[in-house]
Amino acid sequence: MILTNLIEISYKNILKPIFFKKDPEDVHDRMLKVGQTLGSVSFLKSITKLLFDFDHEKLVQKVDGLTYRNPIGLSAGFDKDANLIKVIHSVGFSFAEIGSVTLHPYAGNPKPRLYRLKKDKGLVVFYGLKNIGVDKIIDKIKNNYKSSNGNILGVSIARTNSVEASGFEEGIEDYKGSFEKLVNSDIGDYYTINISCPNTFYGEPYSTPERLDGLLTSLRQIKTKKPVYLKMPINLPWDKFDPLVETAIKHKITGVIIGNLNKDRNSEYITEDYPDDMRGGVSGLPTRELSNNLIRLTYKKYKSKITIIGVGGVDSAESAYEKICYGANLVQMITGMIFNGPQLIGQINKGLVDLLEKDGYESISDAVGSKV
Ligand SMILES: Cc1cc2nc3c(=O)[nH]c(=O)nc-3n(C[C@H](O)[C@H](O)[C@H](O)COP(=O)(O)O)c2cc1C
Repeated sequence: MILTNLIEISYKNILKPIFFKKDPEDVHDRMLKVGQTLGSVSFLKSITKLLFDFDHEKLVQKVDGLTYRNPIGLSAGFDKDANLIKVIHSVGFSFAEIGSVTLHPYAGNPKPRLYRLKKDKGLVVFYGLKNIGVDKIIDKIKNNYKSSNGNILGVSIARTNSVEASGFEEGIEDYKGSFEKLVNSDIGDYYTINISCPNTFYGEPYSTPERLDGLLTSLRQIKTKKPVYLKMPINLPWDKFDPLVETAIKHKITGVIIGNLNKDRNSEYITEDYPDDMRGGVSGLPTRELSNNLIRLTYKKYKSKITIIGVGGVDSAESAYEKICYGANLVQMITGMIFNGPQLIGQINKGLVDLLEKDGYESISDAVGSKV
């Protein structure tokens, strides 16, 4: 506890002021290298676990056949190329989503593609599905990842950000190609179909019920017993969002991840000015209310018919618990960790145990949907 507080104070007062003066993408890339080093040396990995990880029986949960030792996961986009797979669970996450991965590699949109909104506690993200491609990612996971009890690895799939994959049918074939390769090589404990990346030049063509139906009809031909989730957009009103959930249920999708970036620059939750030429969706606090509202409405209508993974603006035990009480079985995050430090994951898990005890719950599953 004292150690965790010390790490938090050091991060907020020493490291963060240094990091936040530098280019955000450079800092991100350096952090990936540090993480890779920590994961490659078993002594350093053990120290990392000792400093950051927190386990408690009340946090253990079985979701869609998989056992999670806590409900907190790393959201897609932080570890796009599976660089952190050896260390990510030692930092305290029970699960991590690699990617989004595409059939073909993509170097990413032109820079700048990451910008900090310090006041709004968010990031403007314009990577545009930068990744090394599904084949290399499969090899990396095969060669470097050992599964362990209570720790889960998901892989997020999107379609290649290229002219060749920009047509409706071509896009489906592209998704299908990655999905098939992952399923055939038995890589990943679950899969996510990302239909909500706001940063591709062809937009989000699969986020209408008819087009989503086309995509899922095709992906269903690839058989897997593993859970398959759908990563949802968060800027849709309920009457446009609900038909997407219905389409997902019709195609036996296991769950919805709610959700992706806030892509409405005029959103009431984005109050900070930033350069006009900085394009992209916004993460962090400006996503919190939008995602919470859709989580609550989805749970209210569908209860346990479909699993919900809540993402957006989680930066404390309270904000993670809020999503769980609105109906999320599991919670993911990125931006909260960047603004508060890597000790946050353990702090959230510890705080969740306190909140469960305060509310008289035996386990995290008892709290799911309790405020709906
Ligand atoms: C740098 C960065 C890159 C991202 N890339 C992806 C991605 O490739 N695929 C995806 O589904 N979501 C991506 N996201 C969205 C996150 O997974 C998450 O949905 C969003 O950031 C809200 O969570 P947060 O507020 O905890 O960051 C990215 C987010 C960030 C900050």
